[in-house]
Amino acid sequence: MAEAIGDAIAAGRLTDGERLPPQRNLAFRLGLSLNTVSRAYAEAIGRGFVRGEVGRGTFVRAAGPLPAVAPVAGLDRPDGGVIDFSLNLPAPGAGAEALAATLAAIGGSGDLARHLDHRPGDRVDGHAAAAAAWLGRLGLDTDPDEMVVTAGAQHGLTVALLALTLPGDAVLVEALTYAPAKALARHLGLKLVPVAMDVAGLSPAALDAACRATAARTLYCLPTLHTPTTVTMPTDRRAEIAAIARTHDLTIVEDDVFGFLPPTRPPPLAQVAPERTVFVSSVSKCLAPGLRVGYLRIPAKHRAAVRAAVHLTCWMPPPLMAEIATRWITDGTAERLNAHQRAEAETRQAIAARLLPADAISADPHGFHLWLQLPPPWRADAFRAAAERRGVRVVTAETFAVDPPQAPQSVRLCLTHETARERVEAGLSVIAGLLEDPAESGELVV
Ligand SMILES: Cc1ncc(COP(=O)(O)O)c(C=O)c1O
Repeated sequence: MAEAIGDAIAAGRLTDGERLPPQRNLAFRLGLSLNTVSRAYAEAIGRGFVRGEVGRGTFVRAAGPLPAVAPVAGLDRPDGGVIDFSLNLPAPGAGAEALAATLAAIGGSGDLARHLDHRPGDRVDGHAAAAAAWLGRLGLDTDPDEMVVTAGAQHGLTVALLALTLPGDAVLVEALTYAPAKALARHLGLKLVPVAMDVAGLSPAALDAACRATAARTLYCLPTLHTPTTVTMPTDRRAEIAAIARTHDLTIVEDDVFGFLPPTRPPPLAQVAPERTVFVSSVSKCLAPGLRVGYLRIPAKHRAAVRAAVHLTCWMPPPLMAEIATRWITDGTAERLNAHQRAEAETRQAIAARLLPADAISADPHGFHLWLQLPPPWRADAFRAAAERRGVRVVTAETFAVDPPQAPQSVRLCLTHETARERVEAGLSVIAGLLEDPAESGELVV
């Protein structure tokens, strides 16, 4: 229908400013549901053929297609000064044009009041259904009833821990973990128990021993593109971890926030052990972090507690933002933006692979970050300070360590936060230079 409207304008059968029939009349005339006609009008608005005017109707656009959008205009990211490799964020800007079209389509949909009402944001408007379909792309069989929409993965992690733990509980985690998880545990009064990792991720023997040594019943882990080490746990290791979780009746909180970046990947732990895994995902890395939309897939026994925690923390995530994500998942925009992030990560990782010594880095070709093991005599704190003095910001292993004195002499570099590839290249050249010339490595840094 949207296309037919466009064709009619192109052929001169519809002219500038002409009013389209009311949606209800057209639906009756064509024998379609009102919803179908509403969606077609919204699509025609999104394509710039028509515009909606509240209370008046839908009119053929006098101004032609939507105005051009400058993809990275108005960003707060630096384009001068310190080259910032400290923030694990996606490459910016790719969604700006899509957002212009989607906002226009939503604006013209004629039922905006529903986005302003107080409602349970997790089971409305097909949001949960779109989320379930989206997670299905990871190899995760998901029913919409298992889904809860959150305001991002950070919120997802918060409500998962609120639902699963009480102050004083022990929670098992990889010995190096997502730094805000440490802060969250501190605020919730949880005791994090570090579990050793090897080249395939969480060590089964160490996990088994930690379960026996503590009363912990919860494990928080990052099996795919672990931050900071970049390790993706292979399929057989996932089976071992799931088996140990069953033996000790652990609930797993699986943080899969980077899970859409690799084109192929092992099945989530939530697929291997669905009965005991809370799966934490969001659109922040694969689409855009500013949407603040996250998706939790929750085993039946924890669903009510997690929903209660969502209500406690925010009543509901903003339905308008979930609506944007839903439309992007449904119309293919999400797939396109995800592919863009993947390609940009690949390009930037290729620059790093060219400039940095292969034996010092751990990286995934589709990851945003890389892990740099510093050659002796470098210590991580001295390296961080020397890089900062040369205008490059990195984060040391201590930030991620549950037990900071045990942190390795390593730093994490995030390659996609910088807008310009040239700045990534310049920053990595500084890092490479420091590795080759450890003259400053002995300097004490406070
Ligand atoms: C490992 C990890 N988990 C969770 C999050 C939170 O993501 P969101 O922006 O969806 O809240 C991040 C964001 O940096 C992250 O790196």
